[in-house]
Amino acid sequence: MAGAGLSTPSGIPDFRTPGTGLYDNLQKYNLPYPEAIFDIHYFMMDARPFFTLAQDLYPGVNYKPNVGHRFLRLLHEEKKLQMVYTQNIDGLERLAGVPDSKLMEAHGTFATASCTLCGKIHNPDRVKEAIIDGDIPIMCEAAMCKGKVKPDVVFFGENLPSSFWDYHHHVHFTDLLLVIGTSLEVYPFAGIVDTVGKTTPRVLINLNSVGSLGSRSNDVILAGDLKDSIWSLTKALGWEEKLKNLEEKYDSSEE
Ligand code: OAD
Repeated sequence: MAGAGLSTPSGIPDFRTPGTGLYDNLQKYNLPYPEAIFDIHYFMMDARPFFTLAQDLYPGVNYKPNVGHRFLRLLHEEKKLQMVYTQNIDGLERLAGVPDSKLMEAHGTFATASCTLCGKIHNPDRVKEAIIDGDIPIMCEAAMCKGKVKPDVVFFGENLPSSFWDYHHHVHFTDLLLVIGTSLEVYPFAGIVDTVGKTTPRVLINLNSVGSLGSRSNDVILAGDLKDSIWSLTKALGWEEKLKNLEEKYDSSEE
C-alpha cells in the first residue's frame, strides 16, 4: 500500500505534513477548505484549482520515479509482488515499470478521462493537451451536454474503481503487507491494513507511526525517510546491485 509520502523523494509534496504538505499550501487557490481541491461539488463550481494542480502533477511531465517506486518494480521482477494498492495519482509506479496487472490506482488515474455529467469517455491525449496548455475547463463534446470533463481521478464524493474492492480477496493470499508513505487517514483505502489476517506481518515504512500499525505483535515499523529504509531493506535482501542496476537502466533510458 502506498501514499503520497512515496513520491516526496521525487519532489511532489504530500498532503498532510505540516508546513510542506499540499493542504498547508493552497492559499493561492482561495479554497473554502483544503480538501475542496479534490471535491467533486467544488469542481463543478470552479475547476481551476484542480486543473492548476493537475498541470504540475501530470504524469511523466515534471516528476520522475524514485528509489521507492523502483523497489516496487524490483519486487515484481523478483516475483515477490502480489499487488500495489496506491492512493497516488502521479502515475510514478507505472512509469517505474510496475505492470498494469499488478497496479490498483485506488484514487484513479490521468490515463482516462470522462464527462462529470453524462459519463462520456473523452480522448485522454486531448485532455492532457488541454491541461498542459491551461485550456480549461474542458467541456463535454456530447450533443446537448454541458458537463465538464476531468481525468478519472477519484474525488471526495466519488466512488473508487470497483476493482479496488478485490482487496478483500487478495488479503487472504498476502504473506506480507508493506505500507509506504501514507497517513492512513483516508478511507476506504486505509481499511486494507485492518483486513489482512492477524498472522500476516505488516511493515510500515513512514516518517512516523500511523493508523493501527504497531498494535499487533508481528507489526514492524521502519520509521524515518523511506529512501533510507528502502535501501536498508534492499541490502538485507541482498538486492542492492539489482536496485542500483534498475536505477542506472532507468536513467540511461531517459537520455
Ligand atoms: P498524507 O499526506 O496524508 O500522508 C503522507 C505520509 O507520508 C505522512 O504520514 C508522512 O509522514 C509520510 N512521508 C512523507 N514523506 C516521507 C518520506 N520521505 N519518507 C517516509 N515517509 C514520508 O498522504 P496520503 O496518506 O497519501 O486523496 O493521503 C491520502 C489521500 O488524502 C490522498 O490520496 C488524497 C488526499 O486527500 C484524494 O485525493 C482523494
